[in-house]
Order: sequence, then structure tokens, then C-alpha cells
Amino acid sequence: MNKLSVIAGKSSEDLARKLSKKIKANLVKSQIRVFADGESKITLKGNLSKKRSIVVQSIYPPVDTNLIRALSLISKAKETSSEVIAVIPYMGYARQDKEFLPGEIVTMKVLGKLFKGAGASKIIVVDIHSMIGLKHFKIKSKNVTTIPDLVKYFKKLSLKNPLIVSPDQGGKERAKEFAKEFALEYIALEKKRDRKTGKVQIKTKNVEVVNRDLILVDDMISTGGSIIKATQFLKKQKCKRVFVACTHALLMNDAEKRIKKAGVTKIVSTNTIPGKTSIVDISNTIAKAIM
Ligand code: R5P
Repeated sequence: MNKLSVIAGKSSEDLARKLSKKIKANLVKSQIRVFADGESKITLKGNLSKKRSIVVQSIYPPVDTNLIRALSLISKAKETSSEVIAVIPYMGYARQDKEFLPGEIVTMKVLGKLFKGAGASKIIVVDIHSMIGLKHFKIKSKNVTTIPDLVKYFKKLSLKNPLIVSPDQGGKERAKEFAKEFALEYIALEKKRDRKTGKVQIKTKNVEVVNRDLILVDDMISTGGSIIKATQFLKKQKCKRVFVACTHALLMNDAEKRIKKAGVTKIVSTNTIPGKTSIVDISNTIAKAIM
């Protein structure tokens, strides 16, 4: 039996397959039957390593379904393997890392207990929304960056006097890192989000972007609100093209259509969430984090 098994959760099948090849692990697929009431019946197809199993399962929508599936896979793996590593490429709930308004539940704290209780000894996440979330996990944890993978893609494009832009101050460090890897300059806009309605506004007044190609860098796109507002603002400032580089493209409802309508030339995301825009493969980066 191979010393390593990769268990492919249904939400991350392709990434798990690519990862298993890179780290020369035995790939174990999971078969799912969904009962009429919505419960998942999961069956593993293959034998697990006694030493180490790696569960790969992103927690994108349906978030709670994919979460319980991740926990179930970890729990099952722990029955055979002495070490279970949870690779959660997109960590749902990562934005709920602190009590923003009184009475709010910090769901990342709950998840920290659940992952440990299920049997994970380490968790690997990718470009997590903020490192505060991982502090709630009392097991080993690692956050992997996809910036070099995304930059590699953008370096192949022919861009006019490109500038890196963060749509908000919270993403400033990410934009700075992206710009450093690309040897370019960066700016960060001022965004305000209404904590009750979720609506966003750009507060920045002017930026010098005339006739420049811009790359808007963000960790994730959900409703598309942040990217749309930033693009509308940048277009008014007479920039040339706007590209979007993000790790996790959730693109809920008609977000992609609305982003394009706002004037974005291309959305480029990674395969932490499979989809039309997920053209940057990060299996190599995850493999490096495991080995
Ligand atoms: C927020 O701080 C994040 O970095 C993203 O900008 C945000 O979560 C994206 O969400 P939406 O697409 O709904 O604006």
C-alpha cells in the first residue's frame, strides 16, 4: 500500500486527481448518493494508507453540504490513517472570523472545533480571507498563496503600462505582494461596505490610471459587488482595460455577467473552485505545501 492517499471530495475531484499525481499518492474517489431529504450518503472507492491520508474538499456552495462532506471524509480517513491532513482549497465561512456586530456567532471558531473533532491533525487552506480565521483552529495550519501562479499567467499577456489595484484597503497587502512578484506598482482603493445590507461603495476620489491596463486583485468574488464598483470607478478615471485576478471565483447568481457588463475584459481565477474562469491550476503549489 502506498504511504500516501489522496481522498477526492466531490467538490474538488479534478484538483485532487492532479495533486495525487504530483505527490505520487493513491487516489481514492468518493461516491455520493443524495437522499430525498438532502442528506449525503458517501462511499469511499479504494483503500486508504495506514500512514497518511489527505482529504481534498473545497467548501463552496452548497457550503453546509460541502462542509459536512469534508468532515465525514476526515472522520472516515481517521479510522484507517494515523495522520489526516485536510486540504480545503476554498474555506467557506472564512469571512466569519470575528464578532463584527454584537451577538454574531464566529463560525470559524465552530469549524476549528469540528475539524479537530473529526480527526484532522493539520489543515491547509489557500489564500484564506484573513489569518484571524485560522487562529481558531487548535491543530497545525498552513495558508498557501496562489499569487505566483496568478502572476505567471498574467505575465504571458501583453499589457499596456499595467498597474495592480486592490478594490479595498483590506486587500492592500495582497496587491502589494502581487505587484512585487510582477515587479509593478500598486494602489489600493477605499471601499465601504454596509454591514447590514452588504452594499459596497468606493470612497476614493481620484487615481492616476489614464490609458493604463489594470489588474484588480482580490481573494474572492462572491456577488461581484466589490469588483463591479471598483471597475465602474476605474473606468470613470479613464483607464484602458480592467482584468481581474482572484483566487476563489464563487460568482454567485449572475455575477459574471454583471462584472463583464461593468467593463471587465477577463476574470482569471484558480481551480480552488472549479468553473469557467478557473484557468490557473494550483495543484503544484498545494503539493509543495504538503511535501
Ligand atoms: C472582502 O473584503 C473580500 O476580500 C472580497 O472583496 C469580497 O468578499 C467579495 O465579495 P463580493 O463579490 O460579494 O463583493
